[in-house]
Amino acid sequence: MPKTRKTKIGFIGGGGISRTHMRYMAEMGDVELAAVADVSEAALNQCSKEFGISHCFTDYQDLLKIKDIVAVTVGTPNGAHYRPTVDALAAGKDVMVEKPMAMTAQEAADMVKMARKCKKLLVIGFQHRFAASAQMLKRAIDKGDFGNVLYARCQALRRRGIPNWGVFGRKDLQGGGPLIDIGVHMIEVAHYLMGSPQPVSAYGSMYTYLGDKPTDTVCPWPDWDYNNYTVEDLAVGMVRFANGATLSIEASFAAHIGKGEWTFTLMGEKAGGQFDPPMIFKDDAGTMVNLTPDWLPNTDAFRHKMRHFVECVQHRTPSDAPGEHGLLVQQMLNAIYASAEQGREVKIKPLA
Ligand SMILES: NC(=O)c1ccc[n+]([C@@H]2O[C@H](COP(=O)([O-])OP(=O)(O)OC[C@H]3O[C@@H](n4cnc5c(N)ncnc54)[C@H](O)[C@@H]3O)[C@@H](O)[C@H]2O)c1
Repeated sequence: MPKTRKTKIGFIGGGGISRTHMRYMAEMGDVELAAVADVSEAALNQCSKEFGISHCFTDYQDLLKIKDIVAVTVGTPNGAHYRPTVDALAAGKDVMVEKPMAMTAQEAADMVKMARKCKKLLVIGFQHRFAASAQMLKRAIDKGDFGNVLYARCQALRRRGIPNWGVFGRKDLQGGGPLIDIGVHMIEVAHYLMGSPQPVSAYGSMYTYLGDKPTDTVCPWPDWDYNNYTVEDLAVGMVRFANGATLSIEASFAAHIGKGEWTFTLMGEKAGGQFDPPMIFKDDAGTMVNLTPDWLPNTDAFRHKMRHFVECVQHRTPSDAPGEHGLLVQQMLNAIYASAEQGREVKIKPLA
């Protein structure tokens, strides 16, 4: 029997999310975890110990020189997404970059342009669009059951969950706080289900009241680095799209609410639906009904995202989470922050 050649993947970043990438790819019989690059020797040692990766580099340019590596994932902090991504594309690699794809919309647009120029895949690490409940809503929307989707109300709210690892409290390295870190998850999937419309304007407000101080409250992930906390605790934003639809987002690492929320609700002309718990709201035979699925597959959306990337690389097929979608999401995130800074609604122009 001829041995099938494995697809060689490199990893730029060897921290938490990159090791999750490795864990899922290590399960795949047709993938080789070929090399990892991280500025931290400790992170490299951990990757090599956990996954037996022998090619470890402190400079990702050395990884990019390995010809057999056809694709890379980028799992560095947000401020280190742009450079490795464009360099990897220029080196002829397909790229999956973690969310959010960049720090600014201009960076995101340049990444999309580079992928087109190099004829390489640029995939964004959005996984929630692959969740069973998102796919349930997509089937109903595609069938026309909702009519036009007019409004998406997105919530990514933790009562208390300020990351105490990485650089999630550093605006200079991450671009923002809960909006760009967790709000992005609900925005990407709701926007995808709305048909990925072009955003045209945004309004936003940001509040910091807790993360920049020590706490004596018993809570998950205490001991965050409050001395270097320069991001918001709570973000509220609203986006208008070229097709007239609207999206709102509430995102927080520390909201004074009864319980956390990780969901969105879509309101269409003919029906609506929500992500979690999955439900569809419609009229049927003269009655307003709430439909709850009897059964949905127990899909691991993250596993699906990783497999989808590998298959796009192997079969040269377009991704369901392309750079173009990442760019539109980035434009929304950056415009909400800009609006909060300027204290007024800001316009968003198409890029790329
Ligand atoms: N899709 C998801 O559900 C999900 C979940 C968590 C994190 N993320 C994203 O993954 C990214 C990283 O988050 P994390 O939790 O893994 O952070 P982390 O701090 O655990 O890991 C980041 C790693 O990148 C390394 N690094 C920093 N600059 C580098 C550079 N220039 N070159 C090479 N390595 C560099 C750091 O040393 C660190 O090991 C962020 O963009 C975050 O938004 C996505």
